[in-house]
Amino acid sequence: MDRIQIRGGNRLQGRIPIGGAKNAALPLMAAALLTDECLTLSNLPHLADISTLANLLGRHGVAIQMVGDEANEGHIGRVLSLQAKEITNTTASYELVRRMRASILVLGALLAREGKAEVSLPGGCAIGTRPVDLHLKGLQQLGADIDLREGYVHAQARSGLRGAKIVFPFVSVGATENLLMAAVLAKGESTLSNASREPEVVDLAACLSAMGAKIEGAGTDTICVQGVDRLHGCQHPIVADRIETGTYAMAAAITGGDLVLEGARREHIVALAEVMTDAGVTLEAVPGGLRVSRSDAELIGVDVMTEPFPGFPTDMQAQMMALMSISTSAAMITETIFENRFMHVPELNRMGADITVHGASAMVRGVKQLVGAEVMATDLRASVSLVLAGLVAEGETVVHRVYHLDRGYERLEEKLAACGAEIARLKH
Ligand code: EPZ
Repeated sequence: MDRIQIRGGNRLQGRIPIGGAKNAALPLMAAALLTDECLTLSNLPHLADISTLANLLGRHGVAIQMVGDEANEGHIGRVLSLQAKEITNTTASYELVRRMRASILVLGALLAREGKAEVSLPGGCAIGTRPVDLHLKGLQQLGADIDLREGYVHAQARSGLRGAKIVFPFVSVGATENLLMAAVLAKGESTLSNASREPEVVDLAACLSAMGAKIEGAGTDTICVQGVDRLHGCQHPIVADRIETGTYAMAAAITGGDLVLEGARREHIVALAEVMTDAGVTLEAVPGGLRVSRSDAELIGVDVMTEPFPGFPTDMQAQMMALMSISTSAAMITETIFENRFMHVPELNRMGADITVHGASAMVRGVKQLVGAEVMATDLRASVSLVLAGLVAEGETVVHRVYHLDRGYERLEEKLAACGAEIARLKH
């Protein structure tokens, strides 16, 4: 398995292009199931998760064509065209779903298009049990019969889906997306209350509207949908990845460097920007992106609590912890979204950090210097927090099991090396 080797101590300087958002691309690809016409997605990141979902969609009969990186008819980045002329198979197998739990996002679209679906229940993952009960309950409210057998969801909507008033007991990004895709072809009106306000949900709603869906309120906690009979194809550029933006902003902050993040959208990282500014980091909008720098300003400890958007994102919690580990004071970091998202703590402590976990909170006491070590990646965002720590640690850090990283970061080591990091991928 590949490893990443880092020699710390360099201040990063330069420009990093921000790619399309993984967590927008996945539901957008699933939306191709909703029409027999061609959906063209551009600014697509080149990530393992994208390939996994493309593989799964292919089994449902979606014809997929990847166009290269060249600027293509005005598109930016990689262009993927998807066309589900007909759905040849409504089963999403365990073999694929276990590899990428976001595959559950095909459920709502298959039900809406075909009136039936057999989708493997996604297992949990390192950061939590991650049930899908909100997805299933919402589909039942839209008129689906849901039967759980042998680890699969067997869903049927013989007379089609019909609009319903759905109130989520708590915010779920995936449930909002799955039910939005089911509701757009349901008969009548649906409302999703306490819906996720994430930019990736807004991006999905924008694409569905371009395909002919009637959606109001995306980006607020109440989304209204008027069902339509069919959707048509469209071309859609995927929104920039706010978590990739935040991660590279942390790289500038932790190394005391100065980076311009090309394509970054400041309005998608307001809570993060506030926290980083309070910690002593400078973030300023520049033409076409965001400049993040921290010269010799002290890093001040800032308390953080993760919340659904527009709050501080849980997907930035591990990265923030790496930054706070070298602050001149202390920070309390509370994780409210997932029940087991502190697996980076023991690894950071092996690098000399001083972090103690008390239930859903971690007390981070800043230390003067981290020291390089061999560390183990456990999940996507934990792995990148170890890379961030390695960028500032004395000596050499080797991060094992970097396949976790490849799920969410495209060419991470190349982008960091181009800005002065001593970082390399060790293949074997
Ligand atoms: C999405 O996961 C993201 N993944 C996650 O990013 C992100 O951390 C998460 O939203 C929160 O922002 C994608 O978009 C592909 P949730 P999702 O449903 O939709 C519980 C990354 O690093 N829950 O908002 O699965 C759930 O267990 C990944 O890029 C239920 O209990 O998250 C969690 O504790 C990690 N029942 C909380 O709600 C349900 O039916 C929030 O989950 C659904 C969720």
